[in-house]
Amino acid sequence: MATIFSGVKPTGIPTLGNYLGALKHFVTYQEEHDCYFCVVNQHAITVPQDKLELRDNSRKLAALYLASGIDSDKSTLFIQSEVPAHTKMGWIMQCISYIGELERMTQFKDKSQNRVGVSSGLLTYPPLMAADILLYGTDIVPVGDDQKQHLELTRDLAERFNKQYNDIFTIPEVHIPKVGARIMDLGDPTKKMSKSDENSSGFISMLDDEKIIRKKIMRATTDSDATVKYDKENKPGVANLLTIYSLCSGKSIEQVEAEYEGKGYGDFKEGVAEAVIGQLKPIQDRYYQLLDSDELDDILDKGAEKAAFVANKMLAKAERAMGLERKRKKK
Ligand code: AQP
Repeated sequence: MATIFSGVKPTGIPTLGNYLGALKHFVTYQEEHDCYFCVVNQHAITVPQDKLELRDNSRKLAALYLASGIDSDKSTLFIQSEVPAHTKMGWIMQCISYIGELERMTQFKDKSQNRVGVSSGLLTYPPLMAADILLYGTDIVPVGDDQKQHLELTRDLAERFNKQYNDIFTIPEVHIPKVGARIMDLGDPTKKMSKSDENSSGFISMLDDEKIIRKKIMRATTDSDATVKYDKENKPGVANLLTIYSLCSGKSIEQVEAEYEGKGYGDFKEGVAEAVIGQLKPIQDRYYQLLDSDELDDILDKGAEKAAFVANKMLAKAERAMGLERKRKKK
């Protein structure tokens, strides 16, 4: 059975982009794979966080994983900081990474831009991500397309370690969805939808209520052409809304184009809003039941225990391969 690992940062409430590009796909892997899903809260602190918000967002994110369909009988769900093997392996991965290759990461360049006092964690977070993945002997990592470069680095680090020390790591494959791998901002469809964006009108949070979802979609940037056609280059706003509609309704992009032929953007946007609400409403209902339950904490406790059991074995192998274990004196 192939092993799957993926994580989401609790830097806010996940957006529709996080859902369509990642969470929605995680659910489909559960039946036939050994799955590990993680709330990567140590990645969140690479940029300043309010401690109470971070604490709450971590629990909320765990509830959203479950509400989206992650089944704790089939998958292991846990919080990164509760499994110390991650930071220990993260240090090992940092020590085999080169500063130059970390400086080339586009997310580092984007997130460090215009920031006063860039933390060294922002530079070294890709090796921690490599550790997260490699600890579980992961075969497949399902992610949105913004994580592709980090996955390439993970593969390079695994190969480097295997060659220099011992052949212990599986080289993971990245799975990026064909449609929805990069849901764009509603206001500026040339940039990715992001949960930590300061302007909340550009993203739909998985917990936005119906009224807010409608308002944000009705205000989404389109163009003056008024035809519902998929043309990413010339009509990025409409192309983004078509992608969202298609993924939320299960209809193909061609079907949606045909449905709105000769109709204006107003009708189209109403359709998009209905499809998004139809997708998120049942998740939100389950989420509110889970959030205040003991069940959520029980699942996270068990998840951390199981993850630690598996991760510690791989960590011990890596430490042994590097000479970090103590050789006891023979009695
Ligand atoms: N806009 C997006 N479209 C499709 N997939 C996306 N993902 C993120 N944004 C989009 C995918 O969601 C998963 C979890 O991402 P993350 O939270 O760990 O980090 P991120 O990629 O940096 O996401 P955000 O929302 O942009 O967070 P902030 O604002 O904190 O930087 C990943 O699989 C990602 O590819």
